[in-house]
Amino acid sequence: MSHLLSVDQFDIQSIADLFALTEKIETAPRGTYKVASSSVLTNLFYEPSTRTSSSFHSAMARLGGSVISINDVSFSSVSKGETLEDTIQVMAQYSDVIVLRHPDKGSAARAARVSKVPIINGGDGVGEHPTQALLDLYTIHKHKSLDQPLSIALVGDLKHGRTVHSLLKLLRMYDVQIHLVSPPGFLMPPELTQTQDVWHRDLHGCIQDVDVVYMTRVQKERIQDATLLQQISNYGISLELMQLARPDMILMHPLPRVDELPTCLDADPRSKYFEQTGNGLLVRQAIFYSLFGMPIPCWRPVS
Ligand code: CP
Repeated sequence: MSHLLSVDQFDIQSIADLFALTEKIETAPRGTYKVASSSVLTNLFYEPSTRTSSSFHSAMARLGGSVISINDVSFSSVSKGETLEDTIQVMAQYSDVIVLRHPDKGSAARAARVSKVPIINGGDGVGEHPTQALLDLYTIHKHKSLDQPLSIALVGDLKHGRTVHSLLKLLRMYDVQIHLVSPPGFLMPPELTQTQDVWHRDLHGCIQDVDVVYMTRVQKERIQDATLLQQISNYGISLELMQLARPDMILMHPLPRVDELPTCLDADPRSKYFEQTGNGLLVRQAIFYSLFGMPIPCWRPVS
């Protein structure tokens, strides 16, 4: 089964294959590839989403398929106590692929164990968000060569932000110096860090040196401790910090943003976060193309 649960299912070659497919879709006239014309996607979201849900929906529509959207499980039989496993087994009867977002780490793997159709992990708690990491890497690839040494700062709530967990795993495949920028209570989980990573309390320590700044939002919905939130209340990027950055640095953010990324930076040509969301649609079309238009998908089966 072709579940896509983790970036661990990719290597440099399969990423290159997926990006080649993404570029093919990006440069073709819209409607060229209707490889999913008889396919149905279930978007099953137990947590709020704008980008992941909508871009998967749009990707399926652009490849000719259709979508069942369960974007508020309080209006589904989940509210009557139906388990994740039962919901998955039911929706697998009605669709050919399921994108799942769920608050529990490991939920996508649980779903995959009972599903007869591919599960795509659309974010599992503080675990992973593999398709976000792939679109992030695609955005970096569009502006920087992944064949050259790069220096990247991951900034903000590195403890609870699943996008940075997945992205960091992908970046390890390339020659990338990692800068981890966060207050002490928001550190990257130790199992994801390496001794050569450089740690900083704030961006002043590295913004002059990096090719990419990847900002993240504080995941307030996953934090109960008010004093911990206080620790990270005054971090973020600013006009002043942008003036210290390289002219060819790119500024990224998975969005949604809160206070850490002021709107006054939107006009800076180095700001790539809206382009990033557009790349999400392209990469997700490539994922569906890989599933429905090719003999086997780019990624490895779940081990
Ligand atoms: N970046 C991202 O996952 O956004 P959504 O929560 O809106 O899907």
